[in-house]
Amino acid sequence: MKINQLTVEEKLRLLCGKDAWQTCDFNGKLPFVKVTDASMGVRTAKDDGSGDKPSVSYPSAQMLANTWNLQTVRAYAECVADDCLDYGADILLGPGVNIKRNPLCGRNFEYYSEDPYLAGTIAREYIAAMQQEGAGACLKHFCCNNLEYNRKLQSSEVDERTLREIYYKPFEIACEAKPVSLMCSYNKINGVQGSEYKKGFTVLREEYGFDGAVISDWDAVYDRAKAAKAGLDLEMPFSQSNYDKLLEDYKAGKITEAEIDACAHRVLDMVARCKELQKGKTRKRIREDRINVSREAAEEGIVLLKNEGVLPLKKGQSLSACGIYGAPYSANSDYSRYLSGGGSSRVVRLTKEFDIPEALRKQGFTVLFNGGFDDNGINNWVGMNPREAIGNAAESDVNIVFAGTGGEIEHEGNDRKHMRLSDVQERAILDTAAVNPNTVVVLFAGAPIDMSAWINEVAAVVWAGFPGERGDEAVANVLTGKVNPSGKLTETFPLCYEDSPVANGYLDGAVTRYEEGLDVGYRYYDTYNVPVLFPFGHGLSYSTFEYKNLVLKTADDKLEVNFEIENVSAIDGKEVSQIYVRAVSSYVYRPYKELKSFAKTLVKAGKKEKVTAKLNLRAFEYWSVGHDRWEVEDGIYEIVVAASVADEKLKIKIKIKDGKITVL
Ligand code: BGC
Repeated sequence: MKINQLTVEEKLRLLCGKDAWQTCDFNGKLPFVKVTDASMGVRTAKDDGSGDKPSVSYPSAQMLANTWNLQTVRAYAECVADDCLDYGADILLGPGVNIKRNPLCGRNFEYYSEDPYLAGTIAREYIAAMQQEGAGACLKHFCCNNLEYNRKLQSSEVDERTLREIYYKPFEIACEAKPVSLMCSYNKINGVQGSEYKKGFTVLREEYGFDGAVISDWDAVYDRAKAAKAGLDLEMPFSQSNYDKLLEDYKAGKITEAEIDACAHRVLDMVARCKELQKGKTRKRIREDRINVSREAAEEGIVLLKNEGVLPLKKGQSLSACGIYGAPYSANSDYSRYLSGGGSSRVVRLTKEFDIPEALRKQGFTVLFNGGFDDNGINNWVGMNPREAIGNAAESDVNIVFAGTGGEIEHEGNDRKHMRLSDVQERAILDTAAVNPNTVVVLFAGAPIDMSAWINEVAAVVWAGFPGERGDEAVANVLTGKVNPSGKLTETFPLCYEDSPVANGYLDGAVTRYEEGLDVGYRYYDTYNVPVLFPFGHGLSYSTFEYKNLVLKTADDKLEVNFEIENVSAIDGKEVSQIYVRAVSSYVYRPYKELKSFAKTLVKAGKKEKVTAKLNLRAFEYWSVGHDRWEVEDGIYEIVVAASVADEKLKIKIKIKDGKITVL
């Protein structure tokens, strides 16, 4: 169907959805696409509107990022594409690459990282894999939706260099995978409504090669004509009043037919591309295999934060467990509170109850566990007697406490009020740890927790994040050592919220000032030497790794970084190595160091593996406000190979002169 075969009214109608989830088809005259949420699997509403259809509940985006494993990202995205085919969805409304600027943001679990390179790299892989398997992507939310507070009204006020280097950057990288669509944000950007952000849409199209359609976030359009003129192609969901006003504005000459055609074209192209992507595609995995991928992703993404030797559990040890998690103790057992965050991305899980004690018993452990407790928002133990939990802990070799936030606290439209666990959970940890020094805390949450009240009293902390429906088995496997933990944090865990660079930034109902500029996340803590609880990139293993033999090779504007990782323990393990660039002699401000590459490498016990990373000049550039373009300064830089941002292992200086790199 050609655009000139449509009437003007039809073209205008094409710029608005048919309903909440589909584009217009004019009674079969046009092909259409169905879109669906999003970041933890496929959430599709039941046809009778009575809730959502059960579907595989995967680990949250945060957990996927914590894997630092692009093969895992690829497998996860392929599975989600298969789920889309199952539910007749053409486009998945994800991935989300908003930067985790504020640890309290209620949607952090739906996003990848505080680092733009990492978030963009994961999203690029995800989009490429998903689209290759036949489902279109919708990269979201462009941009600066970094807090949920007053999200539809407030303006994120950010300087141009910070926009380019931090907030646009993940979109720039992800656009290399050619997503069929992109979603605008609810908030304003420097006073301009996200749906009317022409400046940003132009950068996407003219500089980042984005050639898909821009879709509105749900109900984010205030002036349809203005949004269309800015380059927002499709408004979702359908709004009769916005359509009527658009028609009126067209008749009044406020928007031209050419401007309407440009948007209509892109909507038709998006539909055609989706149909093209689907040609000849069948499901790559049956559902059971997808559930296994979900478990494997959780196993790769779980982060061992602290371990004073208590983990892995030893055969024959007796265990006690208590805690707040999951069905059947949650109010809404369909969702299971602690295996996923809430909001539009929450998936009704497909399979069984979430039961870690049972998963441990299956591996031969005895577990004293008479019931989980639920603080139920009322700060009381419900469903389990605290004395019993303390008694259980006192008579067991190892005591495990499950704690966290859950989907009732972390969900879109809401931010956390603070970073601590509820009083009742902190008490449970302290009271049981007081009678058992071998206490392990397993945390279910989507964003950093302030652990100051109890961290020194416990022997180990495991970050289970929001691990999806097979997270119980994944957690049990990590605790017992069946799986050697290999996830690392993709955001900093500050000691407390007040230490975060945004804690004192200006914020009112209308404006959020991004006063910290480039110093987001580790860029701040690392540059200003601010102590943190766990640094960006941190994660322990049951293996011990040594980094050796850094060798740099250059050829004009290219740099090859080679080093070795040796596993000096008796257990096979995977290590995430990180490559940072430090500008040593810059004439403009640069954060102390910035992530430019990473690798996840399996190293067998007692063996060594080579790691190679390739960098080009783009790894050294900054956005010059003076010249309005990316620039690479001549000068000295340091290449830092690290196990976390705070654990630098190997480094060598290089020199850049007239675009040529030499090793010093
Ligand atoms: C969210 C989007 C989501 C959309 C559709 C909005 O409230 O911000 O991320 O895709 O709803 O459910």
